[in-house]
Amino acid sequence: MSRITIHGGVPLRGTVRVSGSKNGSLPLLAASLLVDGEVVLHNIPHIRDIHTMIRMLRALGARAEFREDGGLVIDGSSINSVSAPYDLVRRMRGSFYVAGPLLARFGEAHVPLPGGCVIGSRPVDFHIRGFKALGAEVEEKHGAMHATAQRMRGTRIYMDPRLRSVGATVNLTMAACMAEGTTVIENASREPEVVDCQKFLTAAGAQIQGVGTTTLRITGVEQLHGLEWTAISDRMEAGTFLIAAALTRGEVTVEPVDPEHMSMVIDVLEQAGCDIRLAERSVTLSMDDRPDAVDVMTAPYPGYPTDLQPNTGVLMSIARGASVIEETIFDARFNYVDELIRMGADVRVMDGAAIFKGVPQLFGAPVVATDIRAGAALILAGLAAEGETEISGGALVDRGYEDITGKLSSLGARIATAPEADPETPDDECLV
Ligand code: EPU
Repeated sequence: MSRITIHGGVPLRGTVRVSGSKNGSLPLLAASLLVDGEVVLHNIPHIRDIHTMIRMLRALGARAEFREDGGLVIDGSSINSVSAPYDLVRRMRGSFYVAGPLLARFGEAHVPLPGGCVIGSRPVDFHIRGFKALGAEVEEKHGAMHATAQRMRGTRIYMDPRLRSVGATVNLTMAACMAEGTTVIENASREPEVVDCQKFLTAAGAQIQGVGTTTLRITGVEQLHGLEWTAISDRMEAGTFLIAAALTRGEVTVEPVDPEHMSMVIDVLEQAGCDIRLAERSVTLSMDDRPDAVDVMTAPYPGYPTDLQPNTGVLMSIARGASVIEETIFDARFNYVDELIRMGADVRVMDGAAIFKGVPQLFGAPVVATDIRAGAALILAGLAAEGETEISGGALVDRGYEDITGKLSSLGARIATAPEADPETPDDECLV
């Protein structure tokens, strides 16, 4: 989809099925390259970023295809290249995840550096420093990282506790899994998606102590074996639907989810006046008034997720009172604010924070999405707004949300898309 049209003002009601996690699935696909044998992954969402990663695995020579029952089968025994195509890396930074497994299993990885990103500066220096600490020779030349290592050696990797990195934690854990000896990673990230990858690797035979904590002790093994694994649910998608319910004064249940993964988000939504009910595998939110203003600061897990910051900003834009949202992870993640202002919001961005002075009503307008989460936030703004909102750049939302318009329609939203095939990534190209 490329253009999304929304007629706002309809309270969303019903139950919505949450897909598998995008940021949980991407590491699983990359980690499958480490495995000697067949991996079957369940609950992998059909979104463009996953299709891009599947294309990456295939470009390296691996077999990767969806079965009829929805399982994604990956077999790395036919890998015949250690060189990641630039065309895929430039589409999705998550493709840098193949570096660790290629280096660990084949002693060599040639991966283009991902380059600029609309949500802010996103270097990969922590990844590269870690590969070097593990004994790899790394050259950065002509826009790519070329790394070689006969066999990496266990080491101590101290990561900056002020800038915990999801990506570097995952990449270095994968690299260390087959290194000689023990690697200790300090100040590791512990996002649920990172932890799920650690559990997957452990189930495949890796030796990782401290799973789910900030200190990991990884003792290298010679080989990982095939397995079946189910990806966790997408807590960002679940949070998006809950905030949509809050914005439209409706009542929505999201399932299946692990409410523990959403504690901070639930806390903020309760402070905003939402009524929230938790069950073992679901969360229900109902709201019948304007939200109260809440100050929010993004932080690594278990802090408030940066990926839900734009949606939260939309909620605060119609709150009673003023709130401050601080963004501590990505410096350009307020890029949706100018579009929101065009819909009637009163927001000022300064020094990594935005002050939202709540207005009683947003108004539909033509707006442009600049990234996945900004696009989702503008959809939410359109659902709450009076009149029609037309969002250009809707294809970006498809990178991270499976059938978001279909799911919102099932909750009563008046939302439509104007299909426009993306000639570079046809949606069904990775289906069999
Ligand atoms: N950083 C560095 N050097 C590095 C790596 C990170 O300075 O080598 C900095 C980043 O610039 C940032 C901070 O460390 O300021 C944290 O970045 P992190 O490495 O944690 O982010 P990431 O792994 O690149 C993942 C998600 C993002 C999510 C962030 C933070 C995937 C594929 N991406 O990115 O998701 O926002 O963690 O939780 O898992 C999204 O889904 O829309 C998205 C951007």
